[in-house]
Amino acid sequence: MNSGDSERLSYWTQGQDCCDPVWEAAYERFESRDEERTKFRRRLKSLGIAALPRNSRVADLFCGRGSNLDVLADMGFGDICGVDLSPSLLRQHTGRAKLYVGDCRDIKLPDACKDFVIVQGGLHHLPELPDDLDKCLGEIRRILAPGGLVAFVEPSLTPFLRLVHYACGIRVLRRLMPKLDALAVMIDHERVGYFNWLSRQGEICTLTCRHFNPLLNRRSFGKWYFVGRKEG
Ligand SMILES: C[S@@+](CC[C@H](N)C(=O)[O-])C[C@H]1O[C@@H](n2cnc3c(N)ncnc32)[C@H](O)[C@@H]1O
Repeated sequence: MNSGDSERLSYWTQGQDCCDPVWEAAYERFESRDEERTKFRRRLKSLGIAALPRNSRVADLFCGRGSNLDVLADMGFGDICGVDLSPSLLRQHTGRAKLYVGDCRDIKLPDACKDFVIVQGGLHHLPELPDDLDKCLGEIRRILAPGGLVAFVEPSLTPFLRLVHYACGIRVLRRLMPKLDALAVMIDHERVGYFNWLSRQGEICTLTCRHFNPLLNRRSFGKWYFVGRKEG
């Protein structure tokens, strides 16, 4: 634990700092903070999140360095928190969100304490499918108040993503396109979990719809967009 962490981060577990420094470095190279924020802003609007009441209690799970928390704060959400396993990524968040070092399969927050939970690019990091996903979705449902909403944005094996995978295999393209190279490194370092996720889309979708009533369930340009409600 770093000095200064006591104010910035709350620890539910020790976390996994530098669990894969190469992956974390590629993640840093993949997008600038500004590019990331612009992408998140656009997404939140298209998912209808911009219309939520600003006093909603929001959790961003698998939040990484917290760029989405910045966007939520800019949009006027005041009650926001982030959870991630990596203290080194969490430390990069410069906003005022409450930050937890924790495993999203075991969320140490009380029942029904959130109105909205968002995950972007996190669920596909869960190692054991479908069990870990079931655990994580169960935890999300538990911390959501009745009628609360979830939004997930995760990889999906659309024709576009197949093309991207093909491009990742072409060295000259990777040399010419640093972003493609960073993506290829990330995919390579999470290969087993990532392709396991992509090969089980139907099962994942069925499980997710068992936990949450789907309001939006769409796949386009390599992403799965899901918005659901906790009923009752
Ligand atoms: C691709 S990053 C996504 C970060 C952020 N949501 C974004 O879109 O920029 C995946 C994140 O999941 C975190 N992570 C992986 N497994 C986790 C777990 N079981 N619990 C909490 N965080 C986890 C990693 O540390 C990493 O920051």
